[in-house]
Amino acid sequence: MSKKVVVLAGDGIGPEVTRVAMRVLTSVCERFCIQLETQEFLIGGASIENCGLPLKEEVLAACKSADAIFLGAVGGPKWDVLPKENRPEVALLRLRKELDLFTNLRPIKVLDALVTASSLKSEVIKDTDILIVRELTGGIYFGEPKFSKMVGDEQMAVDTMQYQASEIERIANVAFEAARLRKKKVSSVDKANILATSQLWRQTVNRVSNDYPDVVLEHILVDNCAMQLVRNPRQFDVILTENMFGDILSDEASMLTGSLGMLPSASLGNDIALYEPVHGSAPDIAGQNLANPLAAIASIAMMFRYSFQMDEAAQLIERAIESVLEAGFRTSDISTNGTGFLGTYEVGEKVLNEMDYFFLPYI
Ligand code: IPM
Ligand code: MN
Repeated sequence: MSKKVVVLAGDGIGPEVTRVAMRVLTSVCERFCIQLETQEFLIGGASIENCGLPLKEEVLAACKSADAIFLGAVGGPKWDVLPKENRPEVALLRLRKELDLFTNLRPIKVLDALVTASSLKSEVIKDTDILIVRELTGGIYFGEPKFSKMVGDEQMAVDTMQYQASEIERIANVAFEAARLRKKKVSSVDKANILATSQLWRQTVNRVSNDYPDVVLEHILVDNCAMQLVRNPRQFDVILTENMFGDILSDEASMLTGSLGMLPSASLGNDIALYEPVHGSAPDIAGQNLANPLAAIASIAMMFRYSFQMDEAAQLIERAIESVLEAGFRTSDISTNGTGFLGTYEVGEKVLNEMDYFFLPYI
């Protein structure tokens, strides 16, 4: 079997965590006899520096013909001054839209080894296991009109939150299917007391739920959901949410796991998928070997699970991550006071070593 992976390391800590994650990808491919072909391209700020554009057409074309895409992070203060349509983030939004990556999966799993690394109480977060299913190609991120202009003597700006029933239907189906393989509960997030898009969201999710009588559906207002996530996160199984609510709630939920540096993600379309750590480019720690590479490594595990249908390989990586944490090895973001910490590269090496250990033939 051979696989073609496009690698877009991007900006800030993107290149550091990508380098480490690629070592894991390469090693797992060797073990499972997969011929790995990688193509690397610049994206985001790095691409702007090189050619003035955040995403070149040839990069988009390469992504379209890949088996999977791996992305580090895009953005940084250097490019914040650019007009909205030239910013590094545009590259990511365009990839999501052009490849129709409408499903964003963000698993929030509190590992025993990290239960004290969170700022929340251990007894509240222990055993939390949530899958956030975020709609990724609609809503206020993409709705038209979207502009900023002078009206009289002051600036005004408009964004449009927009959804079609078919967009809601397809992401709801993903959430119900996922729940069937888990604890069979979907919490659908909206602001149906205010927003027309949310009313359509609720109606449509109700309709889809008729096809899943074995799955429990609840509707929860987004403000209440934000509160419940820190009050009693174990009540959730699958959280189904539109684009912007999902962006905000997933950052909040990441703190249950101890750090945003722990959160992997998969963005799935019908043919192609993109994998990326949820953390951003973290320019303040870039280039210092301080970033947590575990979100990037866990994103590689998701690539094996969802793009290559190799659950065994995904589990090998996930077990290695857990063992490394159980052995007490940490990057600075999850190290509890006084225990010291390792660098990005070193944590990556620990994960690789653990995988060797698990892979020893049984004697
Ligand atoms: C994320 C990020 C992106 C988003 C940005 C970088 C465009 O915050 O993936 O959560 O808002 O979706
Ligand atoms: Mn975000």
